[in-house]
Amino acid sequence: MPLISRNLEIPRGELESVPALAPDEFEQLRRLAHRTFGLDLKPGKEELVTARLRRLVLSGGFGSYRDYYRHIVKDSTGEALAAMIDALATNHTSFLREPDHFDFVRQMVVPMLARHESSEIWSAACSTGEEVWTLACLFQDVLPARKIRICATDISRKALHFASQARYPAERCQGVPPAWLGRYFTPEPGPPKAYRVTPQIRSLASFRRLNLLETYGWPRPFPVIFCRNVMIYFDKPTQERVVRQLTESLEPGGYLLVGHAESLTRVAHALEYVRPAVYRKPARRRDSWSRS
Ligand SMILES: C[S@@+](CC[C@H](N)C(=O)[O-])C[C@H]1O[C@@H](n2cnc3c(N)ncnc32)[C@H](O)[C@@H]1O
Repeated sequence: MPLISRNLEIPRGELESVPALAPDEFEQLRRLAHRTFGLDLKPGKEELVTARLRRLVLSGGFGSYRDYYRHIVKDSTGEALAAMIDALATNHTSFLREPDHFDFVRQMVVPMLARHESSEIWSAACSTGEEVWTLACLFQDVLPARKIRICATDISRKALHFASQARYPAERCQGVPPAWLGRYFTPEPGPPKAYRVTPQIRSLASFRRLNLLETYGWPRPFPVIFCRNVMIYFDKPTQERVVRQLTESLEPGGYLLVGHAESLTRVAHALEYVRPAVYRKPARRRDSWSRS
């Protein structure tokens, strides 16, 4: 089941009546996706793009993908572009995804954050929020006396809305440890069976829209940034640009965690390799964990 349903309400037969993208139409949309949010659509993805965009073409009453493209570039509200991004971006995520990272947080990050009354970490490209709530539950478990907040961002408003609601069908909570489910989630009246993250845990995160390709700044750098499973969809120059800004957003000595499928080996960057999918900004001093 897709995490955010893409083709609701339009019968399959009607969707299939939308013709496949012609090569020049694919090229227009490919360039637009690359320019606006970094997506690197390789040749061969025509079928996938057709499948993901035809609901928008059909519901908008466009005669062709060319008309649909014209509408997006003319729409000054940005809504049409946002809808295209929502349709093309991959939102797949899960609770405790890539568990090695959470072991690393327990072993290496928790002792450092424990030295401070409060800290804020960044979940960049948080999708539907499972990564955010995993971190919030973990910190609540091991550092209940510290105020550790999570700044959560994504380009997709739809994903952010879902994340901030923090309500998940039971089948998506299968990876949640039973102790967390009992402590940090409440069952929702069903069917279908669902759970909602408790208000106390929800109060630890804030959500905002952020495109990693745009120029942004933060009031203070972060000791830890999770930016996982998004750069895999970018080409190398885009990855370098994104990693440069992420590095600027890190404290000296701070950690960047990327997806295990997204090694930075072939990307120019100023970070130290720590272990698979974990990088560190060189520390200015040994005790550079000054965030409090
Ligand atoms: C596969 S999900 C990863 C979710 C989570 N980080 C994880 O690893 O499970 C990728 C997310 O990246 C977001 N995304 C794609 N391009 C982006 C961009 N240019 N800036 C910010 N977020 C972006 C998508 O909306 C999607 O929610």
